[in-house]
Amino acid sequence: MSKTPVHAPQTQYEVKDNQLMIGGLSVSQLVDRVGSTPFYAYDRAKLTERVNYVRQHMPEKLKIHYAMKANPMPALVQHMAAIVDGFDLASANEMQVALDTPMSPKHISMAGPGKRIEELSQAIAAGITINIESETELDRIVAIVEQKGYIANIAVRINPAFELKASGMKMSGGPKQFGIDEERLPALLQRIQSLPVTFQGFHIYSGSQNLKPESIIEAQQRSLLLADRLLTEANLDIIKLNIGGGYGIPYFPGETPLPLKEIGEKLAANMEKFHQRFPQADIIIELGRYLVGEAGVYVSKIIDKKYSREQAFLVVDGGLHHHLAATGNFGQVIRKNYPVAIANKMGEPSATENVNIVGPLCTPLDILAGKMDLPVAQTGDYITVFQSGAYGFTASPHLFLSQPECREVLV
Ligand SMILES: Cc1ncc(COP(=O)(O)O)c(C=O)c1O
Repeated sequence: MSKTPVHAPQTQYEVKDNQLMIGGLSVSQLVDRVGSTPFYAYDRAKLTERVNYVRQHMPEKLKIHYAMKANPMPALVQHMAAIVDGFDLASANEMQVALDTPMSPKHISMAGPGKRIEELSQAIAAGITINIESETELDRIVAIVEQKGYIANIAVRINPAFELKASGMKMSGGPKQFGIDEERLPALLQRIQSLPVTFQGFHIYSGSQNLKPESIIEAQQRSLLLADRLLTEANLDIIKLNIGGGYGIPYFPGETPLPLKEIGEKLAANMEKFHQRFPQADIIIELGRYLVGEAGVYVSKIIDKKYSREQAFLVVDGGLHHHLAATGNFGQVIRKNYPVAIANKMGEPSATENVNIVGPLCTPLDILAGKMDLPVAQTGDYITVFQSGAYGFTASPHLFLSQPECREVLV
């Protein structure tokens, strides 16, 4: 038997007759419905369930925004438009998808360093909020307003002095390309008041993929305190305070889901204090992977099974070019396995085998699972990679080695 660490059981999807059920269909039926493998499938009921779960545990007054970069598939974004309070986006192309939904531009914001003039201009014309990332970006916005006469809604993205501790990705504290250093805010806030822009508030995004509740609680508290202090010193009011997110999901053995209730209770108490001083401010969190990550799976088919020096290899028709993150090449320092399953052999297996699951690319990096114990599988069986609803399709190098393309479906 192998000593490979195992993932927590993937119980979020139902199993019927040994088949994984996705969006009410067995994996085999879903493959027939899609017409070919590989593909990503996103389960709309699970998206709704997740948003409801967040609302159940977060303070009632908190606005839940969806960070589209996690998964900008148009059909999925349409679905999200009806169940979240707003969108955060990172490009003009994402903005186009967002504006095609019924979501009001009032509830859409754009963040990210290096917004091009054309993007700023489109965002202003659309009436969405631009989270400015530098003073020079603000100058460009002012120039557009002076030329076109439109109203520009802006919020200042702050790079706070603190960081979101224990995050998969840290995006604040120290020198960063994101936001404007907290120390520069007093002078900037003075200046903004004399400019032809509508100042709406702050955006403080300090990190991503965090599974430590105490770190999230602390960062949220510090964000609210920082906003309070800056506004008090500048004698200003705001209508929006976006305190980021960073809620992680478990991908690897040993990781556990966030205790949302605890985070929500602490946030409620801190929000209460902030609202006593700034009652008109909407407090917002923006979540990407937490809302969509677990609602998506990547499905591929085994096209060959071979042995090399005692090790079994299942070669599938999808891989790194569609799902970079699952191969460990999207920000992992040491490669770890995503949870995977033989999706048409989900019951109690009569026998298991220690296998490597690899893609068709001519690179040793194309590995979807290394040395995992799975039910004995054959050519024609389906492999599912769980936790694939975020940073999957659009975070992968589809053109690499000119392989057939991958589909995406919402079921
Ligand atoms: C500004 C901003 N908002 C939201 C997100 C979404 O992060 P996640 O998908 O981990 O929730 C990110 C991720 O990098 C981000 O940079």
